[in-house]
Amino acid sequence: MLFSGVVGLLAAAQLAAAAKLDKVADFGSNPTRINMYIYVPDKVSAKPAIIVAMHPCGGSGPSWYSGTRLPSYADSNGFILIYPDTPNMSHCWDVQNAATLTHNGGGDAAGIISMVNYTLKKYNGDASKVYLMGSSSGAMMTNAMAGSYPEVFEAGAAYSGIGFACASGQGQATPSAANQTCAQGNIRHTPQEWGNFVRNAYPGYTGKRPRLQIYHGLADTLVRPACAMQALQQWANVMGLEWTKNVTGVPSAAYTQVIYGDGTKLEGFFGQGVGHTAPVNEQLMLKFFGILS
Ligand SMILES: *[C@@H]1O[C@H](CO)[C@@H](O)[C@H](O)[C@H]1NC(C)=O
Ligand SMILES: *[C@@H]1O[C@H](CO)[C@@H](O)[C@H](O)[C@H]1NC(C)=O
Ligand SMILES: *[C@@H]1O[C@H](CO)[C@@H](O)[C@H](O)[C@H]1NC(C)=O
Ligand SMILES: *[C@@H]1O[C@H](CO)[C@@H](O)[C@H](O)[C@H]1NC(C)=O
Repeated sequence: MLFSGVVGLLAAAQLAAAAKLDKVADFGSNPTRINMYIYVPDKVSAKPAIIVAMHPCGGSGPSWYSGTRLPSYADSNGFILIYPDTPNMSHCWDVQNAATLTHNGGGDAAGIISMVNYTLKKYNGDASKVYLMGSSSGAMMTNAMAGSYPEVFEAGAAYSGIGFACASGQGQATPSAANQTCAQGNIRHTPQEWGNFVRNAYPGYTGKRPRLQIYHGLADTLVRPACAMQALQQWANVMGLEWTKNVTGVPSAAYTQVIYGDGTKLEGFFGQGVGHTAPVNEQLMLKFFGILS
């Protein structure tokens, strides 16, 4: 009786210690009242890297937590995952309003920066190792945040999104929105003009830009692959990089890797026969981030 009681207590203690997704109530300024979820692994690093993982339209923090294998990589590598969650616009991120597209302009972006600040402080995070990723609407937000807050993020990965400010001036960037001009790849700008949107988000900023991976399916009819090409041209212009070469069969047979510069700052992956959305490639992404060797 006594013995089984002790075993029960130990089991309870182990359960209590097991990492899980937690909701955080007060994380700072949050003008659009989005939600914050966090996953801190049991063996968190002393100075952990932080990845902000943003869900697609209709998603949530908890659904995106289950949507990739990033939590198990957090368990083995000690980094922290932030899962922002928006209740607004059919659970799609605000990627079209000036607030998000302006440094310190507010919007969903400001709430997410508060989450990053909160996490850096509370868990002694490494401010030089803050990353972001997302799928579809989350990928659109990845490009938006990378443009508006270049000083915060070291690198990012956008799966099936749009370039910075592509949907600017449209009512919403959602599948049900009346205006699909951007998602259909029909916004026309020169690389210089695309680059200007990013530069104008934070006038006078001369520091480094987040390194980026852009993934897209060539059979995507909801968000056309042209959107990813535009994003690559945009970032190439902002980073001052030239297209170098395409390599077929990377990371797998259906894909073509599109390399800018030496490939360490900007690259694209386009999948033949891949629709909406391009699957998350955790390993390729974490290597690009520098978290996996
Ligand atoms: C987002 O949704 C929350 C919760 O319903 C609401 O309080 C907030 O005002 C909304 N924000 C915007 C910008 O629509
Ligand atoms: C986040 O932290 C940075 C650096 O301390 C600060 O400049 C910025 O104002 C903070 N932003 C928010 C939204 O808390
Ligand atoms: C759709 O949005 C684009 C800008 O993203 C704008 O140029 C165009 O006029 C809009 N079309 C309609 C019908 O509102
Ligand atoms: C390869 O690169 C060229 C030049 O940038 C581009 O036009 C083309 O679409 C790329 N091919 C693929 C499969 O992405």
